[in-house]
Amino acid sequence: MVGAEMLRVLAQRNFPSERVVALASERSKGLKVAYNGGSLEVGEITEAAFKGVDIALFAASGDIALMYGPVAAESGALVIDNSSAWRMKENVPLVVPEVNSEDIRQNEGIIANPNCCAIPLTVVLHPLREKAGIERVLISTYQSASGAGRQLVDELEEQTKAIADGKTPPVAAYPYQLAYNVVPGGWHPEAGGYNEEEVKIVNETRKILHEPELRIVATCVRVPVPVGHGESVFIETKEKLSADEAREILGQAPGVIVQDDPHARLYPTPNGVAGKDEVSVGRIRDDASTRHGLLMWIVSDNLRKGAALNAVQIAEHAIELGAIGAVKA
Ligand SMILES: NC(=O)c1ccc[n+]([C@@H]2O[C@H](COP(=O)([O-])OP(=O)(O)OC[C@H]3O[C@@H](n4cnc5c(N)ncnc54)[C@H](OP(=O)(O)O)[C@@H]3O)[C@@H](O)[C@H]2O)c1
Repeated sequence: MVGAEMLRVLAQRNFPSERVVALASERSKGLKVAYNGGSLEVGEITEAAFKGVDIALFAASGDIALMYGPVAAESGALVIDNSSAWRMKENVPLVVPEVNSEDIRQNEGIIANPNCCAIPLTVVLHPLREKAGIERVLISTYQSASGAGRQLVDELEEQTKAIADGKTPPVAAYPYQLAYNVVPGGWHPEAGGYNEEEVKIVNETRKILHEPELRIVATCVRVPVPVGHGESVFIETKEKLSADEAREILGQAPGVIVQDDPHARLYPTPNGVAGKDEVSVGRIRDDASTRHGLLMWIVSDNLRKGAALNAVQIAEHAIELGAIGAVKA
């Protein structure tokens, strides 16, 4: 899902490239994938496949990233990896260009692309933090099926059709039926009743914002939506920041669109943001239960800003910063 979206983003942004190569497992060798009005033949990932490659955008599992990331970096490519394998390693920058693009300079050949909920969250938190500081953040996510990869998207469709036909829906790609349901789990369990996704959002947000002590906690939920993750977010600021002020700041923030007029029924939805680049924010409210609290609803396309677009933007910034020696623009 992310790899196909990366190819779309590269073509749409007219990314400066002499040659684009698509790699996957042996299973996909010889298949065609769409690229820039034509198609590319998929090659198999091998150690030799990275020869002459300047930028390697990885969108496979953590195991593959751990195995082939260093190989690609050693052969001279700048690796930008979508898996979680490298994100929390000390010598690997974790980058959201609107927030910490300067961290790209510290790379040693591998840059990590953050979690699909941490990216939009930090795009929104950063401009608010510049104005008022952040004391505490509570998040509940509403994550789409595509966040778990192609299999769950296909299964959601099959389940929906089966239910409409009065048949028993197949359940294989996720622990529970997702169609006609909402599932507060499906990620690897971690200590204290949390899960892997919730821990990632906390740790990665702290790393991107350079705030290792930030008080932040998340609850992650999978919803029967194909594309687009929603996040209901409570933010306690250090200085008082009203909902009106937050709306104004976010209205000018890079990569953010404010869609916030409940009387006109204007608020972002996953269906509405699918295919869009920006992070959309609505339902911005003063939290009546605390002195410095704000509530808001954030939605973004998890395959674009949550993954492929952010990775390509990192590559664009790396070129601008001169962090890629051999790029032939
Ligand atoms: N989906 C999201 O919203 C999202 C957001 C942020 C980050 N991510 C991360 O991005 C990565 C890709 O996710 P996805 O949703 O795109 O998954 P996906 O749709 O399941 O695609 C996985 C890709 O990895 C390839 N692959 C699997 N085994 C391989 C092997 N042994 N050697 C080479 N390639 C192999 C697959 O190729 P074959 O078809 O040949 O197996 C396929 O192209 C994951 O690490 C995921 O956690 C996903």
